[in-house]
Amino acid sequence: MQTLNLDLGERSYPIHIGQGLLQQSELVTPHIKGKSAVVVTNTTVAPLYLEATQRLLTGLKHSTVILPDGEGYKNLDVLNQIYTHLLESKADRKTTLIALGGGVVGDMTGYAAASYQRGINFIQIPTTLLAMVDSSVGGKTGVNHPLGKNMIGAFHQPQCVLIDTDSLNTLADRELSAGIAEVVKYGLIRDPAFLQWLDTNMDRLLARDPEALTYAIFRSCEHKAEVVAADERESGQRALLNLGHTFGHAIEAAMGYGNWLHGEAVATGMVMAAELSQQMGWLAADDVAYTRHILQRANLPVDPPTQMTGEDFTRYMSVDKKVMDGTLRLILMKSLGESIVTADFDPAALKRVLNREI
Ligand SMILES: NC(=O)c1ccc[n+]([C@@H]2O[C@H](COP(=O)([O-])OP(=O)(O)OC[C@H]3O[C@@H](n4cnc5c(N)ncnc54)[C@H](O)[C@@H]3O)[C@@H](O)[C@H]2O)c1
Ligand SMILES: [Zn+2]
Repeated sequence: MQTLNLDLGERSYPIHIGQGLLQQSELVTPHIKGKSAVVVTNTTVAPLYLEATQRLLTGLKHSTVILPDGEGYKNLDVLNQIYTHLLESKADRKTTLIALGGGVVGDMTGYAAASYQRGINFIQIPTTLLAMVDSSVGGKTGVNHPLGKNMIGAFHQPQCVLIDTDSLNTLADRELSAGIAEVVKYGLIRDPAFLQWLDTNMDRLLARDPEALTYAIFRSCEHKAEVVAADERESGQRALLNLGHTFGHAIEAAMGYGNWLHGEAVATGMVMAAELSQQMGWLAADDVAYTRHILQRANLPVDPPTQMTGEDFTRYMSVDKKVMDGTLRLILMKSLGESIVTADFDPAALKRVLNREI
């Protein structure tokens, strides 16, 4: 097992990564302050990992909420099911919520914890690669609104993140690839050496080699923890973690949440960011080709849906929360492994990328 610490003063917490951790209750129970816990999971993950999770809680009073599965259910109506369960089971301010599942369950449980009785503790047990390397770490929680993704939410840090890499063995190939998109993201943003490691080890990751997965998850969490520790509330460099996301969110929304997986949309979005960076004269054609190559090796899409027009992109991108004071800020690449947040890009170049006139 490897352990990282996300350093946020009194809100610091450990991230444990390894095989078989769902069998190790001593990693979880010290982080449960009261006498009761509520596990939140979904209909897909419950039959796989709920029993093991309940065994972690032996000796505590605990109950379970099982949500329907899918990004389409990440909304206020379904969130209300969690509140209703908490109220019906008389959960108090010392109750700890346990998010068992992918990023959807993690974001919703985190927001329920942030808001129930003005804030209670929660623990993340991510079971998708995307949740392990990204959403379970850093305290962003929330739900979607019909008018925008993740528009209702809060910053609320967990007490601990428990990553059992064995749980990836049941994950669909397509979901595994979607998670790899966020792993590649760290390389593109801030770690050229990691990008090379990924290029060399992509087949091992796709074959779910535990050692390769553990390294990729550890390195990704290390990057995430470093960035979040420096800028918890995204007033500066944390925004770099949104590389490809403004384009990607537009694809997810235009295609209907859940049709393109988040990681798939982000993969294509990162290629579009690379293309715009090339149009700005920062990346060479070879760098854009390499970005496409490494994502394609992970079986990810690298071209936007043909039915999306430049106008569709513009419409959805304008509601993105990176639009501040009417200014669209994008994450672009100065070179492979170095990104910047900037509003200072050529709008005509952006239009060419969105209209596929490059
Ligand atoms: N909070 C953040 O910082 C942050 C960062 C990135 C993404 N997100 C959010 O995360 C969400 C995407 O997360 P995701 O990709 O994990 O999607 P997801 O939660 O929908 O999980 C993907 C699918 O895999 C299933 N699943 C989960 N674990 C499994 C397992 N071990 N075996 C078999 N099936 C399993 C799920 O039930 C689901 O059907 C989006 O809503 C996105 O906005 C949040
Ligand atoms: Zn993401």
